[in-house]
Parts: sequence; C-alpha cells; structure tokens
Amino acid sequence: SNAVAFKKHYKSRAIPQAGRIAGAQFQQEGAEAKDAQLVKSKSLDDKTIAFMFSKRSTRTRVSGETAVKLLGGAPMFLGSGDIQLGVNESLYDTSRVVSSMVDGILARVGHHSEVETLAKHSTVPVINALSHLYHPLQILADLQTLVELRTPFTTDLSSLEGVTIAWVGDSNNILNEMMVTYPRLGVNLQIATPEGYPLMQEALDRANEGLAKEGGKGKIIHTHDPKEAVKGASVITTDTWISMGQEEESAKRLKDFAGYQVTNDMMKGAAPDAVFMHCLPRHKEEVDDEVFYGDKSVVFQEAENRKWTALAAFDAFFGKWKL
Ligand code: CP
Ligand code: NVA
Repeated sequence: SNAVAFKKHYKSRAIPQAGRIAGAQFQQEGAEAKDAQLVKSKSLDDKTIAFMFSKRSTRTRVSGETAVKLLGGAPMFLGSGDIQLGVNESLYDTSRVVSSMVDGILARVGHHSEVETLAKHSTVPVINALSHLYHPLQILADLQTLVELRTPFTTDLSSLEGVTIAWVGDSNNILNEMMVTYPRLGVNLQIATPEGYPLMQEALDRANEGLAKEGGKGKIIHTHDPKEAVKGASVITTDTWISMGQEEESAKRLKDFAGYQVTNDMMKGAAPDAVFMHCLPRHKEEVDDEVFYGDKSVVFQEAENRKWTALAAFDAFFGKWKL
C-alpha cells in the first residue's frame, strides 16, 4: 500500500487509465500525514544494497536502483561479469561475504534454489529479483496497476475481488507468481498454455497452500485453448515465449505457441472493456503491435509501477527490517 503514497509524492499527477475496468469506483485520498512521514524517513540512509544479477534486466535494475537512491541508500550493481555468483566460488561463500558488508541483497538468478541458498546464509534480507520459478516484484507492480484500474488512489486490494485475468502464453515464472498471488485476493485466473507446457506443480502447490491458509475465492482454470481462457476476462496478459536461458529452444517454442499471439481478434473474446498487460520485455510473436501500442494496453503504466512498488518493498524489507 505504501507504493501508492510514494507514487503520489514523487509523481503527483493523474494516473493514466484510472478506473477503466469494470466495477471501478473512485475513493477519497487519505492518510496524508502518514504518507509524508513515510517519504521523509529515508530508511536506507547510509545503507548499501547489492544487486547481484546473473541475467540481463532493464526494469528491475532501473526501478531498483532509483528506488534505493530515493530512500537515501546506494545501490551496488554486481553483474555476472563482475562477481563470482555460482562461478568459481560457492553461493555459500558469496552470501557470507557480501552480506557481511551490505544491508540488503537483490538477486536475479537462474534456478530458484540459488536465491534460496543466498537467503539461507545471508545475514541481511535477500529479495528475489527473478528466478526460474518466481518474480515477486513484478506482480507487486501488476497489483498496483490493477488497483489503479479499479479503485484509483486507494490501497484497496479487496476491490480486485471477482476480477478475471486471462493468461495466454508460457508456463513460467510470471504465471507462477500470478498463481500464488491472485486467487488469495479473490482474483480468478483463466490460463491457456500449449500442450506440452503444463502448469508447474511447485507453484500450484504453493498457490493451494496459500488458499488453505488464508482463504480467498479466486479460481484457477487451465486450458489449451486461448479462446476459452480469454472468455469474459477483464485483463489479458502474457509474457515472452522464450524466457532468459531458453534461447536454444526458440525454434521449437515458436512452433509450439502457434495461435497464441494476442491480437485484437483475440481481445474481442474478452470483456468489452478488457485491458492488455505484459511484464516486458516484449516480442512481437506473443502480442502484435496493434494490441501492444493500442488503447487497451496499459503496459507502460505497469512498467512504471515497478518503481513505486520497489520503493515500498525496499523500504519495508531492506529499510525497516530488523533482526
Ligand atoms: N519485467 C522485468 O522484470 O523486466 P526486466 O527483465 O527488464 O527487469
Ligand atoms: N519470463 C521472463 C520474464 C522476464 C522479466 C524471463 O524469465 O526471462
């Protein structure tokens, strides 16, 4: 919810696309004093956050580095050419050494076990900046975007109850993050992946555990038919068919995903006021220019929200973290 306060303070202009999906309600702004205090607190003053990235990044790096700076801290980018993350030095040693000198670690890794190993041995908080399994910071930005589309200027996640999101694409980290997040908030997920691309059991199990613990009325439906997935949905979303590290499978994947490109024709099968979302980076094969740059697309608002949600997440988990 602090992402909204940060955005209001640093941006102070109208939110594009505000209130445009079904059931939108405008609510009053509030909690000004608390917001002002939050922004003034500079919770990363004198602190350094290591960005340990073994893969490329535009949004996560730019949103993350600018967020650390706004909180008064210094980001230290350590790319795969700079440090020994899993190369020539164990993750255990790297984690012990780096965490003895910095105040937080943001890690973009290959296999999810790498970020878990870092976290296990680190003496400071570690945030996952993307693994093969999850991408939590992305879905925080998606949630902020969805709330803006539904109930602008609020932090009211409950307003998302009953919204249906259609995913037409690969079974990957972004979809997994949606599966473990949305149903708990009462958001339905209608998923289409091609034959041979099943949902990942680990993520499904975690989604079900979350539901069992916290309740939540969102349903997950899985099909191999994009038309069925988009039926009645308020949001259509997808991601690249070839995630980082899967480049060798490109030819096969391009063939397997035939019929999965999001086009205006596909959007017609959704709710009349449906919007299009995408975590980016985007390639033309999964969504054509007409949709991606068209008036249903909220992708650049979604991308910008990476910054406001990174600010809120770093403030809470790096800045205000205590042993
Ligand atoms: N969406 C996202 O994480 O983008 P980057 O890979 O550019 O950081
Ligand atoms: N699924 C993509 C997401 C990039 C933000 C990947 O893992 O490469």
